[in-house]
Amino acid sequence: MVTKEFVKNMFSIEGKVAIVTGATGALGSAIATAYGYQGAKVVLSARNEKKLKELVDKLKSEDVDCAYFVADPAVEEDVKKLVRFTVDTYGRVDILAAAHGFNAPKSVVDQSVEEWKKIMDADCTSIYILAKYVAEQMIAQGGGGKMVIVSSARSKAGMAGYTGYCTAKGGVDLMVQSLACDLTAKYGINVNSINPTVFRSDLTEWMFDPESQVYQNFLKRLPIGRLGEPEDFVGLATLLASDAGRFLTGGNYDATGGYWSC
Ligand SMILES: NC(=O)c1ccc[n+]([C@@H]2O[C@H](COP(=O)([O-])OP(=O)(O)OC[C@H]3O[C@@H](n4cnc5c(N)ncnc54)[C@H](OP(=O)(O)O)[C@@H]3O)[C@@H](O)[C@H]2O)c1
Repeated sequence: MVTKEFVKNMFSIEGKVAIVTGATGALGSAIATAYGYQGAKVVLSARNEKKLKELVDKLKSEDVDCAYFVADPAVEEDVKKLVRFTVDTYGRVDILAAAHGFNAPKSVVDQSVEEWKKIMDADCTSIYILAKYVAEQMIAQGGGGKMVIVSSARSKAGMAGYTGYCTAKGGVDLMVQSLACDLTAKYGINVNSINPTVFRSDLTEWMFDPESQVYQNFLKRLPIGRLGEPEDFVGLATLLASDAGRFLTGGNYDATGGYWSC
């Protein structure tokens, strides 16, 4: 039955404890900020302490309850410490938003096996490590939880120079599906991915020149009519972290502006 109370509160994440990785990046900082503005307690994590501290200081000045922890998500010990820090600081973990990522675009002919492994570690193995230790904590504390994993439009289509990245993100999509099978029915932990098209970041800024061929080519396959901005995805990141998304799990959510449909 639909109750007024459920409908009024279904998107609320107020008081929930969230870990956000890649929190120094374009999307991670947007998600951490959005969660914080909605009243969640947020632990921002990345490897660059200076950037983390700057963002946390800014959010604290806006009365957001937050803290930061320096960690490489591909390093098991770092992730264990990140979860421990979050529990020591806020008592539990309700939400994981994994928004870190790395790419080194190169043809398979030019890319070293070492660099391939670096991409796989940063984009795929790191998600497994985070999911494992956050799930352990969520199971121990009880009450379920939500995992929101940032994948990519490129997870389901190849691209020249992107063999490592596409493979890693394709792995993330299947990992999300398998994690849901492990974690949702038994422990109440929903696991989903957000799969965005190109959005504005330091690395993609060059694609936003409307005169450029790259931009024009994108638009031919983008029914939404523009490339993305980080704030375009915080609504979906909130839906998947909130009670409104309680029947959603194992999904790779199309946030491609229609790119997958066209
Ligand atoms: N921008 C796009 O067009 C686009 C499109 C589709 C999907 N995505 C995905 O969206 C997510 C966020 O992307 P973004 O554009 O917001 O990224 P960004 O602005 O380039 O920031 C990347 C973030 O990941 C961290 N990071 C960088 N290299 C890393 C590594 N080797 N290991 C672990 N962490 C690393 C960075 O923090 P530290 O260096 O401080 O650790 C930073 O917080 C990523 O998963 C990306 O693949 C991006």
